[in-house]
Amino acid sequence: MQTIVLATQKGGSGKTTLAIGLALAAIEAGHTVRLIETDSQGTLSNWQSRRPYAEPIVEPIYVAADFEQRLQSLDRTGVTLTIIDTSGGVSAITTSAIRYSDLCLIPARPSVADIEATASTLSMVQAWKRPFAFILNQTPIRGQRLTSAANALGEEAALDISGVVATPFIVMRNDHQDALSAGLAVNEYAPNSKSADEIRGLWQWVEAKLNAGATIQDEPFIGESLEAPLAPMFIETPAEAAAFVA
Ligand SMILES: Nc1ncnc2c1ncn2[C@@H]1O[C@H](COP(=O)(O)OP(=O)(O)OP(=O)(O)O)[C@@H](O)[C@H]1O
Ligand SMILES: [Mg+2]
Repeated sequence: MQTIVLATQKGGSGKTTLAIGLALAAIEAGHTVRLIETDSQGTLSNWQSRRPYAEPIVEPIYVAADFEQRLQSLDRTGVTLTIIDTSGGVSAITTSAIRYSDLCLIPARPSVADIEATASTLSMVQAWKRPFAFILNQTPIRGQRLTSAANALGEEAALDISGVVATPFIVMRNDHQDALSAGLAVNEYAPNSKSADEIRGLWQWVEAKLNAGATIQDEPFIGESLEAPLAPMFIETPAEAAAFVA
């Protein structure tokens, strides 16, 4: 089983929307998917309750210490992909989700505020030595602002943008909001739309990144000890996180 987490401090950047879209794109590609909700806002559970289908199951985990055992048991039950949606801000549960992920996806709108807000998540991801990528979401169709945003994210990670900024960028379109209200993913709500094409394309990029991570990643995973700092596990407040990141 592979595990993806969507995380960034900034609220409203698209974590839940992208978690849903990627989940359905992965199901279309043959995966058995479990969505994990760690956000007490309950956006994902509310979406599931509006949903006309039982799959994918949305399961809440609100206690950081439960992650390792729960992921092991999902693996045993035949789930091939777990996607974890997190809340904005910095918390012990998000830190734990990052720690046990195979890939951390950090969404950002192409704005300075969103890009700046990725820094604390990036520090956490790097502290745990997890593979990661940024997703530019709610973008204009094209324009200089988009190119600047992608370059800024590449610079922040001090890496070539082709490896750390996922493509395609996800354009701002009403389909995403309408799908969320209908309890559907955009690829179900408007299967032949540009929005759906982008999400499927994004899944292909993410899948390739996951597979690349599996070959180059030499870090231990569940059940083995991680050589990363222990401090992030106990971060409970943004102030503590700021101290850690500094
Ligand atoms: N590409 C997009 N185009 C248009 N609307 C979008 C897009 N992505 C997300 N949205 C909308 O933006 C709003 C915020 O998205 P979402 O709830 O996914 O963000 P979030 O990061 O999970 O927020 P929070 O931090 O509050 O959990 C929602 O109304 C969603 O439908
Ligand atoms: Mg959310």
